[in-house]
Amino acid sequence: MTLHTLHIARLTLSDFRNHAALALELDARPVCLFGPNGAGKTNILEALTMLAPGRGLRSASLVDVARAGDEHRLQPWAVSARVMQGGETIVLGAGAERTPEGGVKRVARRDGQPATAAELAEAARMTWLTPAMDRLWSGPAGDRRRFFDRLTLARATEHGQSAAAYERAMRERQRLLADRNFDDAWLSGLEREMSAHGAAIAAARVETLQRLQQAIDARPDGAFPKAILALEGALEARFQAGAKSADVEEDFASLLRDMRGRDAGAGRALDGPHRSDLLARHAAKDMAADQCSTGEQKALLLGLTLAQARALAEDPGAGPSLILIDEAAAHLDSVRRAALFEELLANPGQAWLTGTDENLFEAFGPRAAIFEVREGRVYAASQ
Ligand SMILES: Nc1ncnc2c1ncn2[C@@H]1O[C@H](COP(=O)(O)OP(=O)(O)O)[C@@H](O)[C@H]1O
Ligand SMILES: [Mg+2]
Repeated sequence: MTLHTLHIARLTLSDFRNHAALALELDARPVCLFGPNGAGKTNILEALTMLAPGRGLRSASLVDVARAGDEHRLQPWAVSARVMQGGETIVLGAGAERTPEGGVKRVARRDGQPATAAELAEAARMTWLTPAMDRLWSGPAGDRRRFFDRLTLARATEHGQSAAAYERAMRERQRLLADRNFDDAWLSGLEREMSAHGAAIAAARVETLQRLQQAIDARPDGAFPKAILALEGALEARFQAGAKSADVEEDFASLLRDMRGRDAGAGRALDGPHRSDLLARHAAKDMAADQCSTGEQKALLLGLTLAQARALAEDPGAGPSLILIDEAAAHLDSVRRAALFEELLANPGQAWLTGTDENLFEAFGPRAAIFEVREGRVYAASQ
């Protein structure tokens, strides 16, 4: 069996956030970036996430990430990575270009050719954790849903298309309802679209949950607590109870038909997988995640992230994934930090970590590549 691994061998940024021009040459080792607040460490992780489908780890707009210049903010920017996947080399590129009309458009390339979101997702799977996610368990359901959909997308790359098609049909239906246009054939067609894509979304989430929970349960008891995950949503519940997709679709379509009047009044569809939630319990404490301490909530997320990487690596339809952890090492005691590093070294995908101090990464010894980031420049740390 060939060992499948994934790492970024070269990363370049141009005019991305505070990085005018940056080039990092790397091997498969974890990449540790240290430096003072505001140096540009998170920006580098964010740049990497621009190579995945979606809007990256800050959900920023194409214009926000462009390096602020003297003039207006419609600057082109680019991120490029040489990705080593198994024995293969893939060059990924993402960026914004000016359109002839004076706007900006997103560009994504794989080996020089325009790439779809699915092609990006398959080339470099990644999972990230940032301090902004500290409140994931106690914050709005939408954040957890988006988080979980990203986990699903890394495994089932068609999940993004289902979500886009579902949203499109839902918006169109809502537009008709807002106009008090109760054209039955038109609405039924849109509701069939919603139910077909909605069922696909829910089914993919349920499969992700099962695989992830298995990976969590297989983890050794240790530094990071295990979570018991659950999806809250009517369609997901049907799949979990073993219902057939055709039945789930049909029932959802007829529910939507019955609820036209209500949804017209509400101004939005009140039922559907666009309202589902992800719940978690701290297994050992038998406590809802949002009731746990901030530190425990963070530790749960770390365990979940490590399990997600394991689930992807063991999934024949997926593969190794990069793990990006922004500022987590600083909040861990030295025993947990060392445990985290060992797990990251065992993951077949490269790890990317940030922190303010070089000594946070001491337990890696020579097993990681350490860089200092200062004012948008990167220096290899002496070792
Ligand atoms: N579009 C932009 N153009 C130029 N600088 C930016 C832009 N967006 C953010 N910055 C700057 O990038 C700096 C570094 O941010 P960040 O990567 O979050 O730092 P840290 O090293 O603490 O993680 C901040 O000082 C911020 O003002
Ligand atoms: Mg930061």
